[in-house]
Amino acid sequence: MVRSVILTSAAFVLPALVKAQTYNMVKEYAGDSFFNDWNFYNNDDDLTQGNVFFVSAKEADSDHLAYINDAGNAIMKVDNTTTVTVGSVRNSVRIATKDQFTVGSMWITDMVHVPYGCSVWPAFWSSAQDWPSGGEIDTFEGVNQVTMNQMALHTASGCTHSANAIQTSKLINSTDCSTAADNNDGCVVTTPTTSSYGEGFAAAGGGMFVTEFATTGISIWFFNRSSIPSALSGNASTVDTSVLGTPTANYSSSTCDVSQFFEPQSLVFDITLCGEFAGNQDIFEETCSGTCYDDFVLGSGSNYATAYFEVQYVRVYSQAGEVTVISGSPRASRAHPAAVLALAIGAVAALFML
Ligand SMILES: *[C@@H]1O[C@H](CO)[C@@H](O)[C@H](O)[C@H]1NC(C)=O
Ligand SMILES: *[C@@H]1O[C@H](CO)[C@@H](O)[C@H](O)[C@H]1NC(C)=O
Ligand SMILES: *[C@@H]1O[C@H](CO)[C@@H](O)[C@H](O)[C@H]1NC(C)=O
Ligand SMILES: *[C@@H]1O[C@H](CO)[C@@H](O)[C@H](O)[C@H]1NC(C)=O
Ligand SMILES: *[C@@H]1O[C@H](CO)[C@@H](O)[C@H](O)[C@H]1NC(C)=O
Repeated sequence: MVRSVILTSAAFVLPALVKAQTYNMVKEYAGDSFFNDWNFYNNDDDLTQGNVFFVSAKEADSDHLAYINDAGNAIMKVDNTTTVTVGSVRNSVRIATKDQFTVGSMWITDMVHVPYGCSVWPAFWSSAQDWPSGGEIDTFEGVNQVTMNQMALHTASGCTHSANAIQTSKLINSTDCSTAADNNDGCVVTTPTTSSYGEGFAAAGGGMFVTEFATTGISIWFFNRSSIPSALSGNASTVDTSVLGTPTANYSSSTCDVSQFFEPQSLVFDITLCGEFAGNQDIFEETCSGTCYDDFVLGSGSNYATAYFEVQYVRVYSQAGEVTVISGSPRASRAHPAAVLALAIGAVAALFML
């Protein structure tokens, strides 16, 4: 690809240019139009075998599973008003952007609440149409009652998290990003603060996740509400990543060539229940007791009052001078064969997903 040739030579001749990268906002999902440019999946959970049905946009609206609240924020939630009987599943939401974003993009989401609780498995992630060859980036994910967010890449074989990564997190769970390794745990880094997930995230007023998808590497920053840099507050139409400090997780192209392992990405929010990761009995028992489906999904839905995203916005940026947006394709809603494997299967308390 042309872009990689340009960047590679720039990195070689002028490393300083690579460090201070300026991004301009090219797309914002916010306010009353938040849901306009996403596809609602409208099918069973084909990726992670969760006990949910991901509703259509129409149903999400009529059942109040995806809507804009009085504060102007987007809510996406698990149905918590229907009684689910044995053999049935619970309604939830999975949405994917119609547009795709190439290498040279950055995306930021500001959220005030994320879904949590026993059986609940939320994620904010991205995936190429061809998976795993086009790669997957997991910015936000967790299961059950874990207290910290986990980040990961899932790729074809040959991409690893570098031992030399310059990042603030010292919590490195696994380093092989290949879907063929370790039951597809991916290369997982945990965000080292309880303000990054669950009750702790909500108590801190939420926060911001920044994902930089650059030829030099993929970096993810987490800032809780009180630590958001001024460069990201307000409208932030231009962001220079050099003011963000060291990323929480950093997957350098030195051991995972982004241009080789990643194709244009669609952004995805989803909340599934149980399935291959949250519902794995060993993993489930790490933070919850009982049986995932029987004791939580079934019944009135009273377990799901905290199972919702409240999102102020998602903003997407392009590197200055680059065009990184591929406008909506009709295939996008079928785009995520992604995590078909996603297995967290027992093993290594692993992780997983999408
Ligand atoms: C990520 O780590 C690599 C070294 O592995 C470093 O060269 C690069 O600058 C780091 N990226 C960021 C955004 O700090
Ligand atoms: C927010 O993040 C800052 C910086 O990492 C940390 O010092 C502070 O304890 C966090 N706040 C909460 C409520 O965890
Ligand atoms: C942010 O953008 C909105 C909409 O374009 C505008 O109304 C508002 O004045 C801007 N705020 C700042 C601080 O620039
Ligand atoms: C359902 O969840 C919402 C939060 O999304 C909560 O306000 C409401 O009380 C819950 N309803 C029931 C019946 O638990
Ligand atoms: C990753 O490691 C951290 C720190 O040891 C741990 O708290 C967390 O549970 C691990 N995550 C997974 C999914 O195993």
